[in-house]
Amino acid sequence: METTPPLPAAVVAAAGGGRAPLVLARAPGRVNLIGEHTDYNGLPVLPMAIDRTVWVAARTRDDGRFLATNLDRAFAPCDFPWEAVIPPGPPGHWENYLKAALQAVVRHLPPDRRSGASLTVASDLPTAAGLSSSSALVVAMTLAVLAAHGSAVERRVLADELAAAERYVGVLSGGMDQAAILLAEAGAALRIDFFPLRTRPVPLPPACAVIVADSGVRAEKSGDARTAYNRRVVECRLACRVLSAALGLPLERLGDLVSHARGRPLAGFVDALAERLPDRPATLPEIAAAGDVPVATMRALTTGDDGRSLAIGGDPDTFRPLARGRHVLGEADRVAAAVAALGTGDLGAFGRLMRASHASCRDDYEVSIPALDELVAIAEDAGALGARVTGAGFGGSIVALARAADADRIVAALDARYYRARRGGAAGPPPRFVLGPAAGASVRSVAAP
Ligand code: GLA
Repeated sequence: METTPPLPAAVVAAAGGGRAPLVLARAPGRVNLIGEHTDYNGLPVLPMAIDRTVWVAARTRDDGRFLATNLDRAFAPCDFPWEAVIPPGPPGHWENYLKAALQAVVRHLPPDRRSGASLTVASDLPTAAGLSSSSALVVAMTLAVLAAHGSAVERRVLADELAAAERYVGVLSGGMDQAAILLAEAGAALRIDFFPLRTRPVPLPPACAVIVADSGVRAEKSGDARTAYNRRVVECRLACRVLSAALGLPLERLGDLVSHARGRPLAGFVDALAERLPDRPATLPEIAAAGDVPVATMRALTTGDDGRSLAIGGDPDTFRPLARGRHVLGEADRVAAAVAALGTGDLGAFGRLMRASHASCRDDYEVSIPALDELVAIAEDAGALGARVTGAGFGGSIVALARAADADRIVAALDARYYRARRGGAAGPPPRFVLGPAAGASVRSVAAP
């Protein structure tokens, strides 16, 4: 029987020969253990890189053009010239991620060194599964193009720049994914803090297993999930503005509360929000009154950073800032507690924090869906210490934490009760994995075939 060559070999073979040297970049996906929708608020997250990877082989060209092919034929080849400002392609096209990468690269290559590049892409990281396939693609492309041009950029700088570059596709995302992909260390989760970016590896005890189960409900960052995500970002801005007024503090983002909390839980600030806001969808005039500002000031927070209109979906006049703020502040406390629990090896405590995180993501942040709730319930019934939606939500995957000895039983339960049940009892390859914490992205020269 013919065996499929491992992806790195396949991608190098597909890149073929050429005059310029070939480089090969790898960027892992990530799964977030806890700390959801906290990053853009300047509050910490705890993801780890996973052993599912995007590979990009690259060599420079002489004609100033940029050509990319994907071994997955679902992604049509792209071909465009390198310009100082690269206009976006059609919405939803993978080309936009490549253009986002180049937009960051051009800052580091003077015009006389931009020779163009041919790229070949392959991946075993599922797309739209909440595992950051798009950010992994952007990171791998960036490292490959820089290395092909004999250049490299400090990882931390790149993490910040690529987070900003992805806003190119119209999502107001935070910086978790790029930082996790670029800065993760094997064997450890990574606590990431933002504004400024700081990271600290948090080793995972070998006695635990991390199980990722993909619901199969696609959460496209370039599709509907984008507007739902942007709406959450906007609701956090509104909550922050109300808290600013309530506390008499100039807060730029919810994370600024950390310096006023003096080590106490951030959830303590929720009362101040609840005194001014109803615990139901509130109208913009109600929220403006709660923040002691004119409606126009609040409305400005619902538009893009550039002041232009922003795709947020739904009713443009009704928001839930109290529930969103309650989630974000509580979730930040849970990240701190989860890091402490790993420090003492208390997996049970970590699992309980994951359960609380899922409930908060489901009820207050409203980013879960019934399929994810079902996967969480199956995993916990089968012995997981805790399970939760991971990543942006609105589809995608759950992450479960288990004692290593229980992992097989949990995987079998997910298979029988979710995947097989959906296939009418038939066996098949279930889209879920038991994953260890992998190393961050890397790039190297390779000998062409
Ligand atoms: C997506 C974004 C991240 C983060 C998560 C939610 O993955 O890209 O920046 O906000 O959603 O935690």
